[in-house]
Parts: sequence; structure tokens; C-alpha cells
Amino acid sequence: MRIGIAGVGRIGTMHAANLVTLPAVDEVLLFDPVPGRAESAAAALGSRATPVADLDDLIEASDGVLVATPTNTHAGLVRRCLAARVPALCEKPVADDLSALAGLVAEVEASGVPVLVGFQRRFDPAVAELRRRIQAGELGTIYQVRAVGNDATPPDLGYLPASGGIFRDLLIHDLDAVPWLVGEPVVEVYASGSVLVDKAFADADDVDNAVVVLRFAGGAHAVLVAGRHDPLGYDHRLEVLGSRDSLAVGLDARTPLTSLEPGGPAAGKDAYPGFGERFRRAYQGEMATFVEVVAGRADNPSPVRDSVVSLRLAEACERSRRSGVPVRLDQSMGVAV
Ligand SMILES: NC(=O)c1ccc[n+]([C@@H]2O[C@H](COP(=O)([O-])OP(=O)(O)OC[C@H]3O[C@@H](n4cnc5c(N)ncnc54)[C@H](O)[C@@H]3O)[C@@H](O)[C@H]2O)c1
Repeated sequence: MRIGIAGVGRIGTMHAANLVTLPAVDEVLLFDPVPGRAESAAAALGSRATPVADLDDLIEASDGVLVATPTNTHAGLVRRCLAARVPALCEKPVADDLSALAGLVAEVEASGVPVLVGFQRRFDPAVAELRRRIQAGELGTIYQVRAVGNDATPPDLGYLPASGGIFRDLLIHDLDAVPWLVGEPVVEVYASGSVLVDKAFADADDVDNAVVVLRFAGGAHAVLVAGRHDPLGYDHRLEVLGSRDSLAVGLDARTPLTSLEPGGPAAGKDAYPGFGERFRRAYQGEMATFVEVVAGRADNPSPVRDSVVSLRLAEACERSRRSGVPVRLDQSMGVAV
């Protein structure tokens, strides 16, 4: 099988490194418009990676295409894959706004071509186990969800203008994962944000720290916090409290958190430096699953339709942050969780 990668930047390079280890993948094709970038990535990956000079040639030659380009190019590239009837995995978010995403969902579903969205938490073994236990009723009634998602260091500041802002870019992962875990619609959103790390975020009309409160239809709440700088390392945790159990993912010896209690954990030198290390198992699982979907041996666990939920919530967060008031979500819009 041949997998093509459009965009060999931060995430495209990491996915490529995982793809070349999969026995089902014979060759990984790489395209990037920056001269020399695909060539040097291929050289670092070894004999199973080949640079390709033209994107249409890459799509044509591939059994599946990974779209790892800036967010504002995703929808157009997914459409090119659909036109060639090539399954795709597109990085998040798939479209800049909800109306653009709604049109794309219709096109994807009409085509019958599988398109996965790169929400890696869905492929993380610990998050999957948390969801299994929630669905099996092992936590009882869900009372509270707490999510922490902090980068260690801000992304390259040139990345910001095309990123869509902190809710569409960073918090969108937990805006996907938390409703997916709870399994109920969100009825109200409140969000707030500040610029505390770098004025460049304000210049990009963005914030670098944010908090979100989600209220679910059954009355449970989730509090999501996220930021662009954690001096101790990359920190992503999910904690769910129910009437029968209280569980966490992302809490281990590498969590960048120091307890002041006697015998409590202390952040060590090997705290997670970035999302690649923290979600290593998730990204490996994501590529393995993509290949199985391309081969027709697995269902799509992260379909484009599901990503309507997180993008709709991200847009509501942005409105709430700017207005300072909660945003109620109209369930008649037919966005099922
Ligand atoms: N799932 C995750 O954990 C995760 C993590 C980081 C980034 N992302 C997402 O991945 C996407 C890329 O982010 P990144 O950090 O790798 O960005 P990046 O800027 O490091 O890389 C993007 C690459 O795409 C190339 N590119 C630009 N236009 C292109 C086009 N039309 N066709 C092909 N290549 C093109 C650029 O030259 C660059 O090499 C973003 O949408 C981001 O939201 C997801």
C-alpha cells in the first residue's frame, strides 16, 4: 500500500515516521511546496519514503492521503482526494467554519470515500479505555469532567494567523474528546481567554490561555483549560468523576506537575516535552487505524460528521470569549453527539 502525505511540516513528518514502520505500508510519498522539504524528510525516513514534486501525481499514486497542511487548505485538499476517490485522513480542524464544514460533510458522505479526522485522543489507548468504562456504566452517573491541555512552548508564531485561534486549533481536541466521552449533547458554553504568554497572540486577534465551561443536557459540567506555555512540559489530562468511580488519563510519572504533599509526585527532567511524546501511542494507533480503513478492514472511528460537534463548540467558545456571556446551543440544529 502507498500512503501519500500532503504537507511535511511538524505533524506530517511525525505521521510519516510512524507510517514507514507499518508492515502494510510499502511506500510513503511526500509532497510539500517548500523546495527541498519533502526531499530532506524522505532522506531522513529511509528507503520506504519518496518525495513527489506534484500534488496531483501524489494523490493519483496513493491508496490513501494524509492531509497535514495549514488548516485553511484542508477542505480544498480533501475535495481533491474525493475527486480522485482516494481515502483521506485530514488533520483537525477540517474546515475553517461551520458552514464550510457542513458542505464538506455532505460531499464526503455522498462520495462514500472514507475521510478520517486527526483527533488523536480517539486513538489513545487510555482515552479509549476511559470511554469503554463510561459506556459500560462503570463510572455511574457522570458528575464532572476536567480537561487540561497545555503546550510546553507556543508554536512558531508564523503559524498563528492560519490556525483559527486557540479554540479551533488547541481546545478543539478536547471539544471533540469530552462530548465523545460523555455521550450527551452540550447545551451551553462559556469561554474566557487572556494573553499572558506573548503579545503576538493579541496581534493575531487570539489568546494564549483559555478556559471553557460546557454544560451537558443531563446536567453534568466539563471544565476545559488550555494554554500555550507550561514551564514544566506538555500537559494533557482528562479526569472524569462519576457516582461510582473517578478516573484520570495523562497522569503518570512524566506529567509536568509537582505536588507539595509529602511523597507526592514531582515533575522530573523527563516530563513530556511536546504533544508528539505525550501522544506517541495515540499517533501510532491513528496511523495503524488509517491504514486499516484504507484497506477496507476497519470502520472509520473519527468521521468528518463527528467533527461538526467540536467545530460548532469552538465557534461558540469564540463568541462567548468575545461577548463575555454564555452561548446556548440550539439542539434543533441537528448536531448529534
Ligand atoms: N493532531 C494533532 O495533534 C496536531 C498537532 C499539530 C498540528 N496539527 C494540525 O496539522 C496541521 C499542520 O500543522 P503543522 O504544525 O504540521 O504545520 P506546519 O506549518 O509545521 O506544516 C505544514 C506544512 O504544510 C505545507 N503546505 C502548505 N500548503 C500546502 C499545500 N497546499 N499542499 C501541501 N503542503 C502544503 C507547508 O509548507 C508545511 O511544510 C494544522 O492544521 C494543525 O492544526 C495537528
